[in-house]
Amino acid sequence: MRDEGMREGDRRRGRRHASAIAAVAAAIACLLVASSRVTPVSAEEPESSALRGATVLADSADGWAEGGVSACIECHDQDSVLSILETRHSTTGDHRTPFAKHGCETCHGPGAAHIEDEVPPEIRFGRDFPAEPQNGVCLTCHQGGGRIHWAGSRHESEGLACATCHSVHAASDTLLAKDVRPETFVKNNQTETCYGCHPQVRAEAYRISSHPFREGRVDCSDCHNVHGSVTDSMLRQETLNETCYECHAEKRGPFLWEHQPARDDCSNCHVPHGSNHRTLLEARTPWLCQSCHDAQFHPGTAATGSGLARSAAPNRNLLLKDCLNCHTEVHGSNHPSGVRFTR
Ligand code: HEC
Ligand code: HEC
Ligand code: HEC
Ligand code: HEC
Ligand code: HEC
Ligand code: HEC
Ligand code: HEC
Ligand code: HEC
Ligand code: HEC
Ligand code: HEC
Repeated sequence: MRDEGMREGDRRRGRRHASAIAAVAAAIACLLVASSRVTPVSAEEPESSALRGATVLADSADGWAEGGVSACIECHDQDSVLSILETRHSTTGDHRTPFAKHGCETCHGPGAAHIEDEVPPEIRFGRDFPAEPQNGVCLTCHQGGGRIHWAGSRHESEGLACATCHSVHAASDTLLAKDVRPETFVKNNQTETCYGCHPQVRAEAYRISSHPFREGRVDCSDCHNVHGSVTDSMLRQETLNETCYECHAEKRGPFLWEHQPARDDCSNCHVPHGSNHRTLLEARTPWLCQSCHDAQFHPGTAATGSGLARSAAPNRNLLLKDCLNCHTEVHGSNHPSGVRFTR
């Protein structure tokens, strides 16, 4: 797309902005917790500052494993577990991360009993376990930013856990991998994750006309905030049209002559994921237009399938008289004489 470069930049800036807010929110949260209940959390960390002591699990002040991370990895030394050491979560120099607090136990809960008595760790992740305690752990640090509408979102109420989509032990979270170029034939991992539960959308993405999902040029999260938003269908922007304008800015106008259905809602005519009609249209013309327009003077009577080329009485509107041949500016016109969108 024309504005791809600029838009990418904007989006990244937006992200950075969002993560900056998240960081500030996290810091404030830490300070609040720190000032309200400064409890020395563990004997193993007598030197912790108030900030570091303000752990997400401040309430379970005992039961930490002796030796911290090294105790855990004595038994759990599989690559699939240790790869977390290559992620941002293990940056001990960043006081906000789990590894700057109680290491593995920041997420899995105090582990002394797990090691000594061989009971399962307090917090376990995965579909076999209830989502709420799992998400509670993640949300202590990630409540703000993009997750501000998580509570009450469709995914939250359907009982999805953060770890359903995120692989926090993976060295790089495939959901966030942006560098999926078509020539590598790499699976677009984000969309594949979503397709697993949304086969209908997969079907739409494979229709004749679709947004370029398969090419990796558009991701689900370009239009949706899967952590929840204020709109129906968890769209990123306040309205459906605002979401489209992010990339199709020229459709925003302003126009001298507006076509009301376009200003109102792009999905009056387009199926956002994909369609079997060109340019993601709900239906091909003239039927698309005639679903709203059946003017007396013109276009006369509504066309039906019986007027196709080889029928006894071919319909002129189906032969070389597509509405778009004359009404080219269906999204709106800036021509002084464009009131009928013919120029
Ligand atoms: C003495 C060895 C040992 C140590 C030390 C140990 N674990 Fe485990 N852990 C186990 C065994 C055995 C299992 C069960 C293996 C299984 O179910 O595959 C297990 C399972 C787990 C699971 C998976 C639970 C599940 O059902 O999904 C987690 C998470 C876990 N341990 C975290 C920790 C953490 C965090 C620490 C450090 C505080 C730790 N472990 C220390 C032996 C150990
Ligand atoms: C940021 C939170 C977090 C931290 C920190 C963390 N884990 Fe996990 N752990 C998870 C999640 C979430 C899962 C579920 C699987 C996944 O998302 O990769 C998990 C899964 C596991 C499992 C089960 C793996 C399996 O294949 O069944 C073990 C064992 C485990 N973690 C051990 C550890 C150890 C040891 C550490 C410290 C080196 C650690 N975890 C640090 C969140 C965390
Ligand atoms: C103790 C606080 C803490 C906990 C608990 C925690 N995180 Fe994080 N997480 C962080 C910090 C800090 C970052 C780095 C943020 C940054 O650099 O802006 C981060 C980064 C991330 C990222 C972005 C990674 C990237 O490459 O951009 C994801 C996704 C994430 N965390 C998911 C989770 C999930 C899922 C859980 C629960 C299993 C979890 N986190 C638990 C503190 C935490
Ligand atoms: C339905 C799948 C899904 C679920 C469930 C989910 N996420 Fe995400 N998450 C994503 C996708 C996709 C992205 C990348 C696009 C984006 O930023 O919206 C992402 C991005 C993130 C990021 C990094 C970008 C940012 O906004 O800072 C964090 C942190 C994060 N998620 C945390 C969480 C937490 C915490 C939960 C649980 C409360 C959660 N996610 C649940 C799919 C999911
Ligand atoms: C574990 C299954 C699961 C995964 C993975 C998943 N979803 Fe969902 N999602 C659901 C369920 C269940 C619903 C509610 C029923 C429905 O609308 O199909 C839902 C609903 C939605 C909705 C409609 C919300 C509304 O308000 O109507 C959107 C949009 C959505 N998901 C996008 C995504 C995206 C994008 C991804 C990938 C990042 C994703 N989902 C991954 C299970 C999942
Ligand atoms: C170009 C923007 C855009 C992209 C990209 C996009 N969606 Fe949507 N999606 C929408 C809009 C707009 C709606 C609301 C449709 C409506 O209200 O008519 C929607 C609705 C949904 C719904 C609600 C049920 C439905 O079909 O109406 C689900 C689920 C969903 N999208 C999942 C996904 C998944 C999964 C992906 C990635 C493969 C994705 N979307 C990519 C714009 C998009
Ligand atoms: C993340 C950016 C992005 C967003 C947001 C977006 N699109 Fe697109 N759209 C694209 C790209 C990229 C193409 C492909 C352009 C190309 O191939 O030249 C495209 C193509 C289209 C096409 C033409 C398809 C064709 O076959 O030529 C239509 C129609 C369309 N988008 C409608 C919408 C609607 C409606 C919305 C809002 C629901 C929307 N788009 C939101 C990026 C986006
Ligand atoms: C009244 C029906 C209608 C509405 C509403 C509508 N479109 Fe279209 N759109 C069309 C038709 C018809 C075409 C095909 C035009 C052609 O082939 O010349 C099209 C083509 C497109 C294209 C691809 C060709 C181009 O002109 O760039 C994009 C992108 C697009 N529309 C985006 C949008 C967006 C964004 C909205 C919402 C602001 C929207 N459309 C609302 C009917 C509509
Ligand atoms: C969702 C319903 C809807 C669809 C579909 C639709 N229109 Fe419209 N159109 C309207 C409305 C509403 C108006 C404003 C009517 C008015 O002002 O009296 C309008 C106005 C117009 C006008 C100007 C009429 C005038 O009196 O000024 C033209 C020309 C037009 N549409 C052509 C088209 C074409 C061509 C298509 C197919 C590509 C189309 N419309 C599809 C609803 C629709
Ligand atoms: C051969 C060119 C041509 C084709 C094909 C065409 N139109 Fe028109 N249409 C026009 C012109 C020119 C006007 C303006 C007439 C006027 O200003 O009085 C117009 C006016 C209109 C109007 C507004 C006048 C009214 O009747 O209220 C609508 C709505 C309209 N066209 C819809 C359509 C639709 C729907 C189709 C496809 C079925 C279509 N047109 C096909 C040229 C065309």
